[in-house]
Amino acid sequence: LYGDSRLNSRGVDLSNEIVLQNLQHAMNNAALSNSFQAASLINGNSCESATSHPVLNPANHDDVVGNVSFASVNLAKEAIDIATKAQEKWANTSAAERSGCLKKFANLMERDMPTLMMLAVREAGKTLNNAIAEVREAIDFARYYAHECETTLPEKAKGAGVMVAISPWNFPLAIFVGEVTAALAAGNAVVAKPAEQTSLIAHFAVKLLHEAGIPTDVLQLVLGAGDVGAALTQDARISGVIFTGSTEVARLINQTLAKRQDYPVLIAETGGQNAMIVDSTALPEQVVADVLNSAFDSAGQRCSALRVLCVQEDIADKLIDMIKGAMNELRVGDTSDLAVDVGAVIDQEAKDNLLNHINKMKSIALSHHEIRLPENQGTFVAPIMFELNNLYDLKREVFGPVLHVIRYRANELDDLIDRINEKGYALTHGIHSRIDHTVKHIRSRIEAGNVYVNRNIVGAVVGVQPFGGHGLSGTGPKAGGSFYLQRLSRLTRWALPK
Ligand code: SER
Repeated sequence: LYGDSRLNSRGVDLSNEIVLQNLQHAMNNAALSNSFQAASLINGNSCESATSHPVLNPANHDDVVGNVSFASVNLAKEAIDIATKAQEKWANTSAAERSGCLKKFANLMERDMPTLMMLAVREAGKTLNNAIAEVREAIDFARYYAHECETTLPEKAKGAGVMVAISPWNFPLAIFVGEVTAALAAGNAVVAKPAEQTSLIAHFAVKLLHEAGIPTDVLQLVLGAGDVGAALTQDARISGVIFTGSTEVARLINQTLAKRQDYPVLIAETGGQNAMIVDSTALPEQVVADVLNSAFDSAGQRCSALRVLCVQEDIADKLIDMIKGAMNELRVGDTSDLAVDVGAVIDQEAKDNLLNHINKMKSIALSHHEIRLPENQGTFVAPIMFELNNLYDLKREVFGPVLHVIRYRANELDDLIDRINEKGYALTHGIHSRIDHTVKHIRSRIEAGNVYVNRNIVGAVVGVQPFGGHGLSGTGPKAGGSFYLQRLSRLTRWALPK
């Protein structure tokens, strides 16, 4: 797919005991030998504020991962000043130069994989497997956009201007790196504002980007919460925003940008009310594995995660029983334990929102099945499955380990598809069926950016499964796919035909 110039990131074989031991040893060393202090990086200078916040491991609040100091609104403005001055210089670099820096950055992430993984586990609550996938996706994004910039981006393309990149905590390295490297590859200076919950890993990544040769004035890091993000998006000097997060915040950013006289770029990737339709020909064992993985991996904190399982009536009793049995086998707990399947949710606010929804659903649902939480010192939510009468009881995306199930009759399939589409989201969708024309029919009618057949619905691979949706789920273009960089660039000097 990428020719000789691009290699996929390396996997890690955790079933090999020596590999596992070496990795854990390296992660422990990384935890012991670094003190993780993060502050905004303005022109490469670390700008600490008077107050700093401790960063606690969401799975174990006794584990202090580091300290973060947040930027003021004034500092955010200063970052844009510097990026604005650097824009012209960066836009005039060659594609080869930009691509060279990004490839070097990918290699540096490979070099520092244990540190990045350790931060993904302790700062974001990832399992070891998820942490590996996290770092690999970040490496893949960097290499993919490096390759795109040298191949599909037209020679005369020039960066559109300063981009603000706002990224979420659920993929604190992969999405952060995806947004930043795409904007840089297209020739834009960048002001990056990662989610405040996962500032440490973003800070580490920006240091590596600078080490890889991205000039410090071209890439600014601004740490902070929504007030800082709002100040950045409201600044008239920026040329666009790349945002991944909630539909509500994307709408606010869109409204802010729409007040301007010109037309800044907005790339938004938001949420989903993702469904999976399982008909009576599906392989039950496969469905159970894919449902558990899609709904509860990453504690359900993926925009791609399964929220609504739709099961054909004929097999519903049997399948729901099997899912309950498999749920009982899930290990929930501190993800430093390799046997754990489901970690903590990111913070108390996320937990409170989920518990609110869960309590409401307990009075509406036909039934529910919940697994018991072990004793813990973190922000855990027990994986839970609700059986609902219909889809109307589900108003909006619920971001955590909560699965909803509804039943449908074979002659109601089209009505079911209509009801899923009516929600207005269009991110991921799953189909489990062994009838070709059923698969084709659902695929042609369902509104979704990514449709997965007879498999799980999470974990899109960069360059292979470009990822993104439409409707309430985002603007496109798809991340990790061709034409992403074009959205971030301008064609300025067309060569006149001779
Ligand atoms: N790209 C992720 C996935 O496919 C979600 O952001 O699960």
